[in-house]
Amino acid sequence: MEQVDLLIHSASQVCVVPGPDGPQRGDKLGELGLIRDGAVAVKNGRIHAVGPTEILRQQVTAVTEIDASGRAVIPGFVDPHTHIPWYGDRAHEFEQRVAGASYMEIMAAGGGIMSTVRATRQASLDDLVADNLPRLQRMMSYGTTSVECKTGYGLDTATELKQLEAITSLNEAHPLDLTPTFLPAHAVPAGQETEAYVAQVIEEILPAGAAWMQQRGVTLFCDVFCEEGVFDIDQTRRILETARDLGYRLKVHADEFVGLGGTKLAVELGAVSADHLVQTPDADIAALGRGQTIAVALPGTPFGLGHHDYTPAAKILAAGGALALATDCNPGTCWCESMQMVIALACRYLGLTQAQALVASTLNAAHAIGRGHDVGSLEPGKLADILLLQVADYRQLGYRFGTNLVETVIKRGEIMDRTGFSQ
Ligand code: NIG
Ligand code: FE
Repeated sequence: MEQVDLLIHSASQVCVVPGPDGPQRGDKLGELGLIRDGAVAVKNGRIHAVGPTEILRQQVTAVTEIDASGRAVIPGFVDPHTHIPWYGDRAHEFEQRVAGASYMEIMAAGGGIMSTVRATRQASLDDLVADNLPRLQRMMSYGTTSVECKTGYGLDTATELKQLEAITSLNEAHPLDLTPTFLPAHAVPAGQETEAYVAQVIEEILPAGAAWMQQRGVTLFCDVFCEEGVFDIDQTRRILETARDLGYRLKVHADEFVGLGGTKLAVELGAVSADHLVQTPDADIAALGRGQTIAVALPGTPFGLGHHDYTPAAKILAAGGALALATDCNPGTCWCESMQMVIALACRYLGLTQAQALVASTLNAAHAIGRGHDVGSLEPGKLADILLLQVADYRQLGYRFGTNLVETVIKRGEIMDRTGFSQ
């Protein structure tokens, strides 16, 4: 008999989400490895074993036990695309949008991303950390256990590095695991020519981020907002090629409003993910099927904008692509902190089943931030990031929305309270 720290037993369902070799692609998406009357054993913060309660009871004794009868047990959600940290809010712009102004019109008039840039530049590092910590707490209470966080509200070297410092401090202050992404090419700063800013990104800001990476011993992702009126395909290519040569891993904001070829470029450059993918041309969808780049759909964003076009998930899956889901949590297009809400939208507007949406929010999302080896499923050896739902059937996820169906969050083997700190 092996002694473990924690045994969750008698769960009505344990969704293992098997994926030892990578994301679940194409028509394979949705494999849950469902175990009825299941159990999960945890040791030293990692999954030790998973299987029927009857079998695990014969193999382990536990210091702490949780009776999960009448509850489904699933992996913690991974949110692979957010714009945390930012400062301030844009409720006044939402009012303008409700009255008919478009997101890109507000941006062209100097609002949008630039208004959050102004607030973020003025905020101190402490302000930035204090303002964003409650967001992480709420995310965890809805079941998110790993989050990608982007810069991009600095658009100058000092503020972009301040955002990286804020991500580092937040990662230390809160049990959620944060994966940082450098996004100085999120918008063109007011009063600057696009080409001049692209040169500044390539010659000054990306090298400063690369020096920060070396000092800290972490690998950053580099992302670009490839969009009409922001960075075109040629500028995106130059920025990403420079980033790749400096040692960054790559991501792209592609096809959010206009399909410029950003997805095909992402595949060509070996980007880990291409995100948004609403107006994606068919040729780019075919490229996703051939390459390794993961398509990250953000259905909260068209919903948040009141738009009617969503990521063509069925086409991406038919082409053999790998699909993940994320919130895109940001103060402009989509202030949504709940992966449960994203699953509900994905079922309706992307046509995913609850099982497909669950895998896209866990295993595939983990691969979309390069962490598929460590999180995203309940396989032995992975971090013990586990959710107990307050319902017996995982299919209540997506079906119900606006209610938090997560009862208990276990992060690295520790039982968390509602704010995301260990009990
Ligand atoms: O992913 N598209 C660019 N960036 C964000 C919006 C950021 C903002 O409006 O502050 C997005 O939708
Ligand atoms: Fe985004």
